[in-house]
Amino acid sequence: MSKQQRGKLVVGNWKMHGRLAANTALLQAVAQGSGELPADVRVGVCVPSLYLAQAQSLLEGSSVVWGVQDVSAFTHGAYTGEVAAPMVTDFGATFAIVGHSERRAYHRESAELVAVKTQRALEAGLTPIVCVGETLEEREAGSTERVVGGQLDEVLARLSAHDAARLVVAYEPVWAIGTGKSASAQQAQAVHAFLRARLAAKGAADVALLYGGSVKPDNAEELFRQSDIDGGLIGGASLKDHDFLAICRAAAATSLAG
Ligand code: 13P
Repeated sequence: MSKQQRGKLVVGNWKMHGRLAANTALLQAVAQGSGELPADVRVGVCVPSLYLAQAQSLLEGSSVVWGVQDVSAFTHGAYTGEVAAPMVTDFGATFAIVGHSERRAYHRESAELVAVKTQRALEAGLTPIVCVGETLEEREAGSTERVVGGQLDEVLARLSAHDAARLVVAYEPVWAIGTGKSASAQQAQAVHAFLRARLAAKGAADVALLYGGSVKPDNAEELFRQSDIDGGLIGGASLKDHDFLAICRAAAATSLAG
């Protein structure tokens, strides 16, 4: 499949932001703006799980899909505070981010735990967005491919080729997240090409590969034009409807129909 046939995917990761009233305005604006995009640009938002029902009620019938930012490694049971993947599907969700660097760092999630969470999401019928990325220290030590390759391999080792093909993978360099300092398009493309080859070796070459880390309206188009960048996972800019929709339009400009 060529990069054009893969289309583009832009997903907002709201992180721990949002309140009921503000969410309504943001979701309505995103739903309306996304209706004007070509069909080969898909748009999603991953909200705090408390707001899944709100996302469902405001986005159902629009072209925008919704999801969560994490799922439990367990399907049910005495795991206070956890949210299981099957619960998420009760609210019509499409995506579950797993292995975000903030969870790996602040919640000490191991590569193995991330792999198990990916399996739980797949079993429930969700599309996991598996995040991988290196720290600045790791990049400067020349370890980027070893780190992101290891994070991806841990997940792929547990999956059949069929399930691997159902993933979305996001390359999010830790040093670019929330810093205003995006990876250059060339830096991102190089890592995406590496990840694509790893996925191809598993028989999953057509997995959507998103870039995340300080994507803004003014750098999105150059990033999305790279041959192995299929879209973006957007943090801060997904909280402002104008910025998020401008990023979606940048995706449209680089898509087949755009
Ligand atoms: P920023 O876009 O705020 O840098 O966040 C990126 C990210 O972590 C998305 O998951």
